[in-house]
Amino acid sequence: MPDPAIQEPTDVVVKINATTICGTDLHILRGDVPEVQPGTILGHEAVGTVVAAGSAVTTVVEGDRVLVSCITSCGRCRFCKEAKYGLCTGGGGWIFGHLIDGLQAEYARVPFADTSVYKIPDGLSDEQVLFLADILPTAFECGVLNGRVEPGDTVAIVGAGPIGLAAILTARLFTPGKIVAIDLADARLAKALEFADVAVNNGGEDAAAPVMELTGGLGADVAIEAVGVPETFELCAELIRPGGRLANVGVHGHPATLHLERLWIRDVLITTGLVDTSTTPKLLRLIAEGRLDPTAFATHRFELGEAMEAYDVFADAATTNALKVILGAQPVLLEPGRAPAVATA
Ligand SMILES: NC(=O)c1ccc[n+]([C@@H]2O[C@H](COP(=O)([O-])OP(=O)(O)OC[C@H]3O[C@@H](n4cnc5c(N)ncnc54)[C@H](O)[C@@H]3O)[C@@H](O)[C@H]2O)c1
Ligand SMILES: [Zn+2]
Ligand SMILES: [Zn+2]
Repeated sequence: MPDPAIQEPTDVVVKINATTICGTDLHILRGDVPEVQPGTILGHEAVGTVVAAGSAVTTVVEGDRVLVSCITSCGRCRFCKEAKYGLCTGGGGWIFGHLIDGLQAEYARVPFADTSVYKIPDGLSDEQVLFLADILPTAFECGVLNGRVEPGDTVAIVGAGPIGLAAILTARLFTPGKIVAIDLADARLAKALEFADVAVNNGGEDAAAPVMELTGGLGADVAIEAVGVPETFELCAELIRPGGRLANVGVHGHPATLHLERLWIRDVLITTGLVDTSTTPKLLRLIAEGRLDPTAFATHRFELGEAMEAYDVFADAATTNALKVILGAQPVLLEPGRAPAVATA
């Protein structure tokens, strides 16, 4: 592909330092997102360095290191003014690796730079902030904030993939009582126990029973759906107590049953949403203050040129235990795909 150039005065061009693969990229390769045209560069999560700035860009200059997020904001439309950037109608929203060329490349053109990129404070490594491009704000906004997690709450999180684990990590900011992680894969549950209090494999056992036992038969205060299939939405609706909250994060391709005949009398709150990334500056501060450390999500590292192998490893998570696969511009000082014991910068 030719290197991108400035097209609009509000653009910057960024040299990618590190990027990562999302489950959504796999959906695209399977043809589930038909608006993506063949030949589009994929990827919507990156840290990079500004190498060119359009004439109207005022907040970043050449040489600045920036986070490029999955959501772009035009800064002018009704939704951007309400900080609902995910719903942007002015040409932003989720565009990278979707409607325009994405970030799994050596260089990327970034529209609406002033209102869309985040300058990275010195002292933070690329890997410390890379997951702010998608999974952290998604889990925090659509899961934890929509679910209104409060101190002391019992929080059940269904799905322990990158999104579910990020929901566990950011739910902890509110000092919940107990966090219960529920998944079908024991490897995912083992990882979840690094952050959660209880792990339940809902393949073998009735996931509702241990949650009821923990809560004196009432149910969880909050259930977060982080899978995206009908069964897990319906399980979440079963897990919440009267007056409880169900926050859906998963992307659903099929209808799920809403048991209103049971729920109408239970005062429950059900929320849905696409990430807005309005909390990214707050999450960035928490990382800078040492209150949030997402580096444990990085399980594999590759060079950008090894993208095909990186996709294979990520797509075969059941065998490889991959969570987030990092593609770096710098040569990795490791055998391809080997995770180091400690995060490298
Ligand atoms: N709302 C948003 O803005 C937004 C943004 C990004 C991703 N998402 C969605 O969030 C969801 C989770 O993303 P991810 O990257 O963590 O996905 P993932 O596929 O890596 O993880 C999903 C996890 O769910 C588990 N699982 C599958 N079926 C299950 C079942 N029946 N019961 C319990 N666990 C089950 C899997 O073992 C896996 O660990 C996806 O649907 C993704 O598309 C939503
Ligand atoms: Zn994504
Ligand atoms: Zn907008």
